[in-house]
Amino acid sequence: MPISFNESDKVFHLQGKTFSYCLMLHPEQGLLNLYWGSRLPDGEITYLINSFWGLASFDLGANRFPTELPTRGTGYYGTPAVCALNAQGNDLTKLTYVSHAIVPGKRRLEGLPAVYTEADSEATTLVITLKDALTGLTVEAEYTVLEDLDALTRSLRLTNGGAERLTLTHMQSASAPLYGDDYELINLNGAWARERQVVRTPLGRANTRVESQRGASGHEQNPFIALVKKDTTEQAGSAWAMALVYSGSFLATAEVNNFYNTRMSIGLNPEVCRWQLDPGASFQTPEAILVYSAEGLNGMSHRFHRIIRTRVARGYWRDKVRPVLINNWEATYFGFNEELILNIARAAKEIGVELFVLDDGWFGKRDRDNCSLGDWVVDRRKLPGGIEGVARKVNELGLRFGLWFEPEMISPDSDLYRAHPDWCLHVDGRSRTEARQQLILDLSRKEVQDYVIEAVSSVLRSAPISYVKWDMNRNMTEYFSGDQTPDRQMETQHRYILGLYRVLEEITSAFPEVLFEGCSGGGGRFDAGFLYYMPQFWTSDDTDPVERLGIQYGTSFVYPPATMGAHVSASPNHQTGRATSIKMRADVALGGNFGFELDLNKLTQEEIEACRKAVETVKAVRGTLQQGEFTRLESPFEGNFAAWQFVGNEGRDVVLCAYQRLVAPNPGCHRVFMTGLCPDARYRDAESGQVFSGAALMHAGLPLRPIRSDFGSWIFRFERV
Ligand code: GLA
Repeated sequence: MPISFNESDKVFHLQGKTFSYCLMLHPEQGLLNLYWGSRLPDGEITYLINSFWGLASFDLGANRFPTELPTRGTGYYGTPAVCALNAQGNDLTKLTYVSHAIVPGKRRLEGLPAVYTEADSEATTLVITLKDALTGLTVEAEYTVLEDLDALTRSLRLTNGGAERLTLTHMQSASAPLYGDDYELINLNGAWARERQVVRTPLGRANTRVESQRGASGHEQNPFIALVKKDTTEQAGSAWAMALVYSGSFLATAEVNNFYNTRMSIGLNPEVCRWQLDPGASFQTPEAILVYSAEGLNGMSHRFHRIIRTRVARGYWRDKVRPVLINNWEATYFGFNEELILNIARAAKEIGVELFVLDDGWFGKRDRDNCSLGDWVVDRRKLPGGIEGVARKVNELGLRFGLWFEPEMISPDSDLYRAHPDWCLHVDGRSRTEARQQLILDLSRKEVQDYVIEAVSSVLRSAPISYVKWDMNRNMTEYFSGDQTPDRQMETQHRYILGLYRVLEEITSAFPEVLFEGCSGGGGRFDAGFLYYMPQFWTSDDTDPVERLGIQYGTSFVYPPATMGAHVSASPNHQTGRATSIKMRADVALGGNFGFELDLNKLTQEEIEACRKAVETVKAVRGTLQQGEFTRLESPFEGNFAAWQFVGNEGRDVVLCAYQRLVAPNPGCHRVFMTGLCPDARYRDAESGQVFSGAALMHAGLPLRPIRSDFGSWIFRFERV
């Protein structure tokens, strides 16, 4: 049983395949967390209770004990998991145990994305109910163990069982103490065009926040943190990690207390979210996925990948191989017409591409990025036959057709804005800050949600559209609503996300066979919340393969390759100006959902042949690339080489990808050491026919024939024989 309760010592033991998470009901201190780490057998654990501080001291209970749900006014002085301002004007909250239940399966979270199960046997859930006697605030702390996936999910449901309104100021989905302070924090930091750079920093004696206040999870920080030991590497050592299944502002913390113990937490960001909880009302926090790995960072990522690919992503496309696509954005930007589109599609068909995606610029009068968002009506100057006409012509060429939308936005120069100037997020009497000359629709409003659902759906109904790119190109400034009372204005960011999720749920379920891909100025909202609705995301607007090594490497800390859009674009690259070979560009794009983002008609015959060959390779191995196990081997953040491998088809197919940044004069021979192969099995290199033992590939390594140019790449395909 993955969750047990021992009546005599009041310990809940949550066990995954390789981890244990031990909670205890303490008569004075409430709910404690005694242990999270490698799996323990059932047995005595309460001996740890008094080992979180030294001599009796100035400090009070909640700071000396490993509190699971810290609140204010209890002697705990870090970020609380739960905090509510009450009618008396204070935020004291003392949670005492009421009851608990252990049930098979996992509950869906109303209105929010979450890990799901397909059978109750996949999961066991513990709900512990606690209450503040004075205010009546009830907290249902929900824990689900997904034993086979070796992960734990957590969320809180907060209910006002009192007679007065409460203002929720802190709602951390997960908060957990860890013994000791010798951890390093890993977070994924970035900006537009350089998303999810891996940053690893020793924890100091100060609290660390990883957060977004942008109204989107954002380019700057991803809703994920990991704490690791100093000796944790990609392949070995411990990692404790949390990822939030949410697409808006968030806060993750790593805090070291005065007894040199650490707490990590993740949840909504209290800086931009305060919630009014009326008597009888409930608030559901987003869900956090918690993973512990004793097998290094790859062990952590394997667990995240499995759960996100199979039990966060949903629908028709979840287990299907994804089409090779071509997108016209970097080929034409706004300057296209039907003929140009069909020429690109025709050339793409010639090399085996399966889907053509028409990007921004097809609607309203959108010749630049200064107008028409919200007016989802085709521009017949560019496409005289409408979307239906161009889609059918693309279909006749033998390609499926996909379309770009940016449904959450409104241009001040649009018919929609002229009709509904109050439909954007704004504050009366203040200017409306434009970014990329656009404002954000107020999706906290039901009528605005309905408009977006109908506007997108009517285009999807009107033409044979197989794919949608759902973009979102700015962050929030005046994140307030014209439709809300003053006391609830600080709810707007979260209400927006709830509205967005309603819109996404309605549209994706009305068009179940359409492949949806998320996008936000590249990868600005690449999170597990979005992947619940759309199984893939545009990883970055930066298509430079050298930059992409780091972006894709960092993204893979949490998100599997099947979620990452990766395209071959023109050289010199439009973002960096760097020139690279077509082979390097294709070999890097092979690390995600492969596609093109250029006009193939502008390539040389030799380059076209390289593209044709790349498409052939992708089609031959995409089952392994998209559904196999992905493992990082060499980090582009640490050296001149990067390498990763995919193992699929029950270990029979293996793809190894290696990359070089700069050429060195008279170099030594570099070897790559693979991992996770069967030591006694033999693997044949598809190109050379040479056969290697798994043990040799892992322990002796595979020499890479030196490449005498900058930005080189090697792809090996092995078959187990
Ligand atoms: C964003 C996307 C790009 C492209 C443009 C269109 O920047 O990330 O891929 O769709 O918008 O305006």
